[in-house]
Amino acid sequence: MPLGPPKRITAPDIAARKGGEPIVSLTAYHAHTARLLDEHMDFLLVGDSLGMVMHGYDSTVPVPLELMIMHGQAVVRGAKRALVVVDMPFGSYEESPSQAFRNAARVMKETGCGAIKLEGGVRMSETIRFLSERGIPVMAHIGLTPQSINSMGGFKTQGRERAEWEAIEADAKAVAEAGAFAVVLEGMAELLAARITKQIPIPTIGIGASAECDGQILVLEDMLGLSPWVPKFVKEFANLAGAIEGAVETYAKEVRARSFPAPQHTYAMKGEKSAGKDTERAQRSTSQATKRPKMTGS
Ligand code: KIV
Repeated sequence: MPLGPPKRITAPDIAARKGGEPIVSLTAYHAHTARLLDEHMDFLLVGDSLGMVMHGYDSTVPVPLELMIMHGQAVVRGAKRALVVVDMPFGSYEESPSQAFRNAARVMKETGCGAIKLEGGVRMSETIRFLSERGIPVMAHIGLTPQSINSMGGFKTQGRERAEWEAIEADAKAVAEAGAFAVVLEGMAELLAARITKQIPIPTIGIGASAECDGQILVLEDMLGLSPWVPKFVKEFANLAGAIEGAVETYAKEVRARSFPAPQHTYAMKGEKSAGKDTERAQRSTSQATKRPKMTGS
């Protein structure tokens, strides 16, 4: 009996993982990366970090809602199994719960994603409740919140002074009580992340917040070694920038030397064998689909 398409992971499935096997996630912005990640991830985040990573902005502040929707659609098309969470960009939800609902509903309808994420703790709790009660699963995001870079004065690690703990713990409790199904803890001292993870009933997803969290997320391009600079908390699991530069350099050399395209990359006239001795063999091999080998990390 055919098994049918794989069942997609839902926000309640993620919520139910509190305290269990670590939740694994990465950002994804495109269909092709979503396809590659899908089998290995519990959820994929279409993060507004795409503004910096893909579009060259200095911060996430300028990212428009339309861009999030376009990338969200691509990721939902590419991933069949993982929950897809789409970030609400700066300015699209802070004004009022009804502004947030209007834009979040648009994101969910137009992308087909299973949840949205927004930044803020106590100050966003009324909005989180409003959305959660109306069918929009919300992942919260506290600690270092990049959309507030202008008021925080930079990307600053949170909770390294005990005096900061009370406010951050209040944020964590507020988003959990308001109905968020999970919360991202970004750029946070390990001791504080551990305390919060013990205190609240929803999974904590760490990025620069230690292995004490219920799960982890990284920006894909950072962990693949594609970013020109990465923060201390990123481990580069591959060096794709080096691999891309090497491939591009070889391609340029071969084009200049006229050794690419070779006979096996070239179409001869039908029924004529004149295009070189390797042509027939080459045509046979190009007509077969090429299965790419899997690359492993360093
Ligand atoms: O935008 C993003 O990629 C994020 C992650 C860093 C959690 O919010």
